[in-house]
This record gives sequence, structure tokens and C-alpha cells, in this order.
Amino acid sequence: MATGVSKTKMNGNLQVSTSENGNYTYHPIWQNGNSANRLYFGDNYTVMNDLLHDESVRGKIRLIYIDPPYATNSIFQTRKQQDAYTDLLTGEDYVDFMRERLLLMRELLAADGSIYVHLDNKMVFNIKILMDEIFGASNFRSMITRKKCKSKNFTKNSYGNISDYILFYTKSNNYIWNKQYDQWSKDKILKEYPFIEEGTDRRYKRVPIHAPGTRNGETGKMWRGMLPPEGKHWQFTPAKLDELDANGEIYWSSNGNPRRKVYLDESEGIAIQDIWLDYLDINNQNTHTTGYPTEKNLDMLKRIVLASSNKGDLVMDCFAGSGTTLVAADELSRNWIGIDIGNEAIKVMLNRFQNGTQTLDEHIGKKKTKGMETPTLFFEDETEKAGIVPNLVLHHLIDEYTIYVNGNYSGEEFCLP
Ligand SMILES: C[S@@+](CC[C@H](N)C(=O)[O-])C[C@H]1O[C@@H](n2cnc3c(N)ncnc32)[C@H](O)[C@@H]1O
Repeated sequence: MATGVSKTKMNGNLQVSTSENGNYTYHPIWQNGNSANRLYFGDNYTVMNDLLHDESVRGKIRLIYIDPPYATNSIFQTRKQQDAYTDLLTGEDYVDFMRERLLLMRELLAADGSIYVHLDNKMVFNIKILMDEIFGASNFRSMITRKKCKSKNFTKNSYGNISDYILFYTKSNNYIWNKQYDQWSKDKILKEYPFIEEGTDRRYKRVPIHAPGTRNGETGKMWRGMLPPEGKHWQFTPAKLDELDANGEIYWSSNGNPRRKVYLDESEGIAIQDIWLDYLDINNQNTHTTGYPTEKNLDMLKRIVLASSNKGDLVMDCFAGSGTTLVAADELSRNWIGIDIGNEAIKVMLNRFQNGTQTLDEHIGKKKTKGMETPTLFFEDETEKAGIVPNLVLHHLIDEYTIYVNGNYSGEEFCLP
């Protein structure tokens, strides 16, 4: 996994550059030379209102990803126990807070732009309804379920909560979409493409040449003395089937059944679906992290940036936190705008831009816990091995290390590494 951006690449200017447009009340606190990249310190409501007056930004942002507070009624701390941000708005107040900001985001988004909103099970349905209202239900594209952490054993009386959700909307029907694929694994190849073509050694699978539904046109006609099976039609016209057969791309079974050969070397990979299992947040000591609470997985952000923007596009995260979106955008040669209201977030981002990230060990390794010898005890599987009662471990984690300070949050939804 990448560890952040290089010092030189993100070496920006901490001095505020004054805008020629006197309307602006906010100026970036970090800007990289003349590039479009900028980081703002302030309430995103005010900053985005300002950005509406900036012609290089309004209607020009190709991708917005946000990971706002989730209405947890909690205060979050960094791993070094600094207050990072509060998440105390709940219910209607929370929805109103999101509404006024999502309306601004819609204005800032390009006509072919996309927006991804990351939430957990508390407010995702309320915000889905709000997004339908603001972006239009017909512009809803996906609701991605992400596995956020390893399985939990301490959840009582219910199923372990290891998922969160990303709502993906576009501004219109015509939007940037770079389909994403996973690479084939050896096992999957053997299962899915079990045949080797004689003469070429190409690996392939056999698929039917018909599809459901009757057709009156060419694809419903006789081919090689056969009609499509009852209720079906040929996937290709008889002329195209002749061509495929002439190229050796039709396999004939011993009882005369035709099947089309689909070759592995023509596959781009396994198309990504809407359940993401590979992007857990910080989950072991070797994971590089800023130490900021709720820091998201950099590779997950890269997938989103790749799918919904192109090189040179403008990407915005107006709840930037530790700057994961900005780093993903930067590493993939996109321009970016980051906004955050928190001192700690700004401090963490500036440090990340200059020094990258550290392993979890480096963040927590030096601090000893009461009665526990080594930080490896923070990991669920290690605690099990050590025979520690899971509830006590959770309690201990909350006392000693975590992101949870007060509020009425049970803590169970957090994935404590
Ligand atoms: C869940 S964190 C984002 C974490 C981020 N995705 C990451 O990978 O580190 C939410 C962030 O939103 C910021 N925030 C909350 N309200 C805000 C507001 N009105 N304007 C700007 N930032 C805000 C908080 O300071 C916090 O850093």
C-alpha cells in the first residue's frame, strides 16, 4: 500500500495567497504553486459558498467523495489522544446540516460529475432519501456495502456490525465512468475458464449462444437447421454465428450442441460489484496511518477516483479529515480541493503531505496499557489467543486508546484494530 505522497510533490505554500476576487472570505491555507490543488481550513458551508464565485471551480468538479460525521453523538480523538472532531448533530439537525451542504456540492459538481457519500447504518437511509431529492432518484447509481473491519466476537445479541455504505450518485445520465476490474486469481481462472484450446493453448470457457426472450428478427431464425430453444433467441445473427464458427470460436459437443468459446485473454478481469471486501480500514500494525480517527482506506479511495474521474480532473473532499481522498487524487494525477473545519485534521494533513504516514506501531507502540505488555493485544485475534474476555478488551480499548470520548455511542460499531 502506498504510504502517502512524496515531500516534493505535495510541498505547498502555507502562506495564504490573496484572491483577486474581493468576494472571497476564505483562502486556501495550503496551495501547491499555481496548481489547482488547495486545502481550506473552515466550515465547508462557508468555503463552498465562496467557491461558487470561483469560475474555475463552480460546475467544474468531476468527483466529490465525502465521509462526513455519521450522527454518532460522539467526540473523536486521534491515536495520540488529541480531540479531532465532534459528531454531535443527530436526527433532523443532522439531515438539515447535510442538506444545505449537499445542495452546494451539487452546484459545484460538473454536469458529468459524480458524488460518493460514505455513511454507516445510522443515517444512510435518511441521506439516501435526501440525495434522491437533491440529485434525482434517476441519478442514483449504486449503494456500495463495504466491509470495514475484521469479524467481531464481542457483539452481543445481534450480528457483528462490520459494514458501512457508500451512496454513489451522478449529476446527470452522462457521466465519467471507467469500469473497474479485479484481477483473476489462479483458483478462479481454473474454475471459470477450465478449457484449453487445441493448437492455440488459449484458456477458455463455453457459454450458451442463446439468451432469454423470443425475437422475430434475424436472431429468432433458423441456424444450421436449428431454431433457438423455446422462449429464447440467438445471441448473434445467423451470419455472425457462421463467422464465429469459421474462426473456430464455436465449440460443438458430441451430441451437436453449439457453445461459444469465451477466452480468458480477452477478459479485462472480474468486474467490480457493489460489495467491497478488500478495503478494511487500519487493521494491523503494518498498515500505514496518520493516526486520525476514521481515516479511510487509501486503496478504496483510489478505486473511486479511478472509476469516476480522469487524469487532470478536479476532485473535492470537503470533509477531508486526514486527507485520504486528496492523497489518492494526487497520486493518480488529479487536481484536488480539500476542506476541513478541524485544527487537528489540518495539522494531520499538512504532516501527511510532507512526511507521508507511519505504521500503527509507530503511533501506539510506545504507549503501554495497564496490565498489558504489548500492543499486539489490541487485535481481536491476538486477544482471543491470549484468552482475554472480549468485552473487557473493548472496555479497555475505550479507556486507553480510542477514538471514543463521550456521548451515548456504544462503541460496538467502531472497528478497533
Ligand atoms: C469522518 S472524518 C473524515 C475522515 C477522512 N475520510 C479520512 O480518510 O481521514 C469527518 C471530517 O469532517 C470534518 N468536518 C465536520 N464538519 C465539518 C464542516 N462543517 N466543515 C468542514 N469539515 C467538517 C471533521 O473535522 C472531520 O475531519
